Amino acid sequence: MLKILLSDVTEWGRIQWMFFLFMVSGTCSQCTVDQPPVVTAALGHDAIMPCQLSLSDNVKMVIPPVLYWAVLPQESDDDKLWPPSENYKERVDLLDKGLYSTNKSVLFRNVQWADSGRYQCKVSITTKAGRFRRLGNASLLVVHDTMTFNLSGHNNSLLCEVNVTHDPGFVLTVFHDGYKLQTGDSSASGDSYSYLPFVTLSEAVLLRSNGTYECQLHLNEDLITASIFHYHPPEPDKLVEYKEPWHLYTALLLVPTIFLLVLLTAMLICRD
Ligand SMILES: *[C@@H]1O[C@H](CO)[C@@H](O)[C@H](O)[C@H]1NC(C)=O
Ligand SMILES: *[C@@H]1O[C@H](CO)[C@@H](O)[C@H](O)[C@H]1NC(C)=O
Ligand SMILES: *[C@@H]1O[C@H](CO)[C@@H](O)[C@H](O)[C@H]1NC(C)=O
Repeated sequence: MLKILLSDVTEWGRIQWMFFLFMVSGTCSQCTVDQPPVVTAALGHDAIMPCQLSLSDNVKMVIPPVLYWAVLPQESDDDKLWPPSENYKERVDLLDKGLYSTNKSVLFRNVQWADSGRYQCKVSITTKAGRFRRLGNASLLVVHDTMTFNLSGHNNSLLCEVNVTHDPGFVLTVFHDGYKLQTGDSSASGDSYSYLPFVTLSEAVLLRSNGTYECQLHLNEDLITASIFHYHPPEPDKLVEYKEPWHLYTALLLVPTIFLLVLLTAMLICRD
């Protein structure tokens, strides 16, 4: 009796387990849409917005997944990066065009200041067990312009400047021959309330000795862009040391001398 009961229990357990498995495969707890928290792009350049769909091994899609890239905050359905709405036409392309591909990264062309913002990758999947949707955690697209170095002659200082999307994570650092310089006068001009879509970060250092000065732009821990400046102060000795063009002097002297000699010879011949 007890044995029968026990086998019934295990039987029931197995049914429960199978039901549970079915539920899991139906909703797919292991399925995720992964996208990086931050994507950086140089102004006017192209950016890859990565998005990867991960499915558990037992999940088989019966029709191709449907992809959406939403522009956050989503105010209307007309504002979509993918499929591109009117304002993104010709600027966005799917990188992997395979219908069943799980790589849903898109190429975003000619990124402008106005494109800074958050983009969310959404994928709808249909399996035998049903249809479900996965949302990525959204990527923040931040933009930066080209970094510039300005040498100021009168106070012998080097100014490194770069325009960036307003983000507190951006930091400029200057290195001299690999050693980080303590500047302390780092500044961001332009404020978050200004109408400008960017702020200017600048860092000034005094040029003390020759060598390589490098300005680096970091966003949180990641190096975004860097610029190198080779500094060779004019050496006083080199300025005084001036090579005389003796050959030129000799040549210049030779011409009138020959002319005089010819003249003299001619005069002597005439006298005779
Ligand atoms: C998305 O964010 C949530 C909450 O912050 C976190 O628990 C989850 O792991 C994130 N997912 C991915 C795929 O990074
Ligand atoms: C997705 O595809 C693009 C283009 O083929 C490639 O650059 C990228 O590395 C791929 N991403 C992954 C996660 O494989
Ligand atoms: C050097 O002079 C410029 C103005 O020409 C000024 O903006 C900068 O702050 C000065 N740098 C230092 C380190 O004093």
